[in-house]
Amino acid sequence: MSDPTTPPLPAMPSGGSTGDGNAASAREVGAMFDRIAPVYDLMNAVISGFQEPRWRRRAVALAGLPAGGSAVDVASGTGRVAASLAVAAGPGGRVLGVDISPGMIGKARRDYAAVPGLDFVVGDAMALPAPDGAADAATIAFGMRNLPDYRQGFAEMRRVVRPGGRVVCLEIARPDHLLARIARLWFERIVPALGRLAGQGDAYGYLVESVRNYPPPERIAAFMEEAGLEGVTWTPLSLGMVTIHVGRRPLEG
Ligand SMILES: C[S@@+](CC[C@H](N)C(=O)[O-])C[C@H]1O[C@@H](n2cnc3c(N)ncnc32)[C@H](O)[C@@H]1O
Repeated sequence: MSDPTTPPLPAMPSGGSTGDGNAASAREVGAMFDRIAPVYDLMNAVISGFQEPRWRRRAVALAGLPAGGSAVDVASGTGRVAASLAVAAGPGGRVLGVDISPGMIGKARRDYAAVPGLDFVVGDAMALPAPDGAADAATIAFGMRNLPDYRQGFAEMRRVVRPGGRVVCLEIARPDHLLARIARLWFERIVPALGRLAGQGDAYGYLVESVRNYPPPERIAAFMEEAGLEGVTWTPLSLGMVTIHVGRRPLEG
């Protein structure tokens, strides 16, 4: 399902950080996710120690969708959060999943074809294909650290929600306590090895790098505020191994 116009995967996308965003280009990142789309869900389950369904459920709950509400799920990948949002919104609800990888979008469309009110579209988080103020909430799960400009990512999420609407960001974090250091050994040594076994060593090396370079929760909160969100809070889960940030678009503006 790779787009033939995407460039070949660089030997190792930098996965570094400019401080304000991931240094790898959106095009490089999209091409990489195209390649791992078929193994993504299984690898995710293993990497997270089968914790990720719980994290996603919490993020969906924090989006606080009203019955019949609408949401945009950014960097929607294989569509799990978007599908859960559509179920939470119920009859009359509308959810749009947006992802830069045609491979991911193709898998999401196939897997969730039967979910009413749910659509997926290929698009860039830096310029979301959604109108201003149309949604009750915008979510991003494990996507923010891949974006070339975090502030712009949040600004776009703010733009597409209505005044008072919520912006929710679920992402991996790097707390500094003993258990986290042990977990980090697993993540930084075993995950790339598993990736190599799945024939995707460079992609899972990139994953480790992108987490290593992602700013701490306080900095992410500052990006959200700089993007015009208010009431920003964050909730650590699994001993701070992941965090969920929530902000609101102001009622005025
Ligand atoms: C780690 S996956 C997360 C997928 C999904 N949200 C989940 O919870 O499993 C990151 C996703 O971000 C997408 N992505 C990366 N850069 C993007 C961009 N600039 N715009 C939209 N999607 C992007 C990738 O294609 C990939 O599907």
